[in-house]
Amino acid sequence: MNTIPVKQVEAGAGEYRKLTVNIFRHNPQDENSVPHMDTFEVEEADSMTLFILLNEIRENQDPTVQFDFVCRAGICGSCAMLVNGRPKLACRTLTQELPQVLNLAPLPGFELIGDLSVNTGKWMRNMSEHLETWIHNREQERDFCDLEEKMEPEVADKIYELERCVECGCCIAACGTAQMRSDFVGAVGINQLARFKIDPRDDRTDADFYEVLGTEEGVFGCMTLLGCDDMCPKELPLAQQIAYMRRKMALAEV
Ligand code: SF4
Ligand code: SF4
Ligand code: FES
Repeated sequence: MNTIPVKQVEAGAGEYRKLTVNIFRHNPQDENSVPHMDTFEVEEADSMTLFILLNEIRENQDPTVQFDFVCRAGICGSCAMLVNGRPKLACRTLTQELPQVLNLAPLPGFELIGDLSVNTGKWMRNMSEHLETWIHNREQERDFCDLEEKMEPEVADKIYELERCVECGCCIAACGTAQMRSDFVGAVGINQLARFKIDPRDDRTDADFYEVLGTEEGVFGCMTLLGCDDMCPKELPLAQQIAYMRRKMALAEV
């Protein structure tokens, strides 16, 4: 892996901030592994993100530290972790916005792969299969050579807004219900069904949505404390979507 050139940041008159980075360490595959924190010292640099910081540590201090990154641009959702107790995307978080001591931990609520790496993909797939987060069209067999059906631009914009979810898991890590019950679909699941609810190509009824969402695992398990809305790095309107789906489910004729 190439070392990323970094320019150091001045903390005061001629000084650079030295960051103290405490990282959660544990390998659940190793029966002798005991969860603990390891501490690293890293010189801060201009525009340093947590992605750059973690790579500095892995390249120059400890090559065994595990963490996930793919896009480095806030698109893939794989780099989410707890930063001083708050879920954040590491590639979009600048160290200059953080105090000198950093505590990095894996997102709670997901299977731990090792250190800062968790299996959000498995969780998201289970949620998606449970809620059937895809278009349901009972009409007829599709001919994939047909032109796509037209859609009003306002509707397309609304769908696009909700489609911006990157399945990072920050809303699950911030959610009291999700931490107490592993079958809760979370704001990410509720948002995804809200997206299909407004899609004119999906002909599921409110009663169909009620079957999977009108439960304690769904919208009625939500305590509406809105940690999800506060912590979503894509600033999705989660509070609005939860309220919308809750209202629809309360009025659904089942
Ligand atoms: S709703 Fe927001 S916080 Fe939740 S998974 Fe999607 S992007 Fe991440
Ligand atoms: S508002 Fe609902 S989904 Fe969001 S964090 Fe609270 S309990 Fe979880
Ligand atoms: S690496 Fe893709 S969102 Fe951070």
